[in-house]
Amino acid sequence: MKDIIVTENLRYSYISDEDKRELALDGISLSIEEGSFVAVLGHNGSGKSTFAKHLNAILLPEGGKVYVAGMDTHDENLTIEIRRQVGMVFQNPDNQMVANVVEEDVAFGPENLGVEPSEIRRRVDEALKLVGMYEYRTHAPHLLSGGQKQRIAIAGIIAMRPRCIVLDEPTAMLDPVGREEVIKTIRELNRNQGITVVLITHHMKETIDADRVIIMEDGRIVADGRPSEVFARVEEIKAVGLDVPDTTELIYELNREGFNLPLEALSVEECAEVIYAVLS
Ligand SMILES: Nc1ncnc2c1ncn2[C@@H]1O[C@H](COP(=O)(O)OP(=O)(O)O)[C@@H](O)[C@H]1O
Ligand SMILES: [Mg+2]
Repeated sequence: MKDIIVTENLRYSYISDEDKRELALDGISLSIEEGSFVAVLGHNGSGKSTFAKHLNAILLPEGGKVYVAGMDTHDENLTIEIRRQVGMVFQNPDNQMVANVVEEDVAFGPENLGVEPSEIRRRVDEALKLVGMYEYRTHAPHLLSGGQKQRIAIAGIIAMRPRCIVLDEPTAMLDPVGREEVIKTIRELNRNQGITVVLITHHMKETIDADRVIIMEDGRIVADGRPSEVFARVEEIKAVGLDVPDTTELIYELNREGFNLPLEALSVEECAEVIYAVLS
């Protein structure tokens, strides 16, 4: 598979209140394979949002390069095409609603791209079906739950036919039911539509199914691998102020009591099997 996003030694700094340059990204080099599901973790201020904003040219590198489907984000002639290929979903669903009717909201993106009205109609219906919100198409977005609003925001991106969606803590403001709805939707878009997903989150549970977990700390990547590999490094993860999934924590604590269970058992089912095996 080819890479949809490549960053080479990406650096970015903000100017602080005291007029000092503060490095937010300190040399990020990575490639994201098309069709993959990548989760990005890191505590507040580690640079996750700054990184995300480089993936569709909201921010441009101060040093190094970002390529989206081979396009250099520094090339202003390519910005519109880059934003068509990589859609962004943010934390607060209320800030992302632009219309008073769900289907008009979803149509906004493709309208801006100059898509033909009949084609827009098709895309809006398709996108709403993909996020499981088709029956709400004539509803008012502000009356929906947080999880439903985020699915509408995702539909608005899908209607632009992106190859990649970047979601910056899309579940942070949702209750557990809303979180589950949104994560299920994202997972299905990845698996069934082949859309590349970059999910920024601090809910460990949401990263278990990812193909890859990247952990950021101080503008750098400190871990990058399959979830089972990354989370097995329990001490290192705790050292950067993050938790491991509850399943990993449970096995880790049992091992400290003298058991020798595999830390790679990440899902609740795998974890239960591993513990059942020693009990029986
Ligand atoms: N608009 C801004 N102006 C100044 N500093 C910023 C701005 N946005 C982020 N930062 C700083 O950059 C660093 C990385 O922030 P951010 O990318 O938002 O991290 P995260 O999303 O992981 O919480 C932090 O130290 C933060 O204070
Ligand atoms: Mg952030």
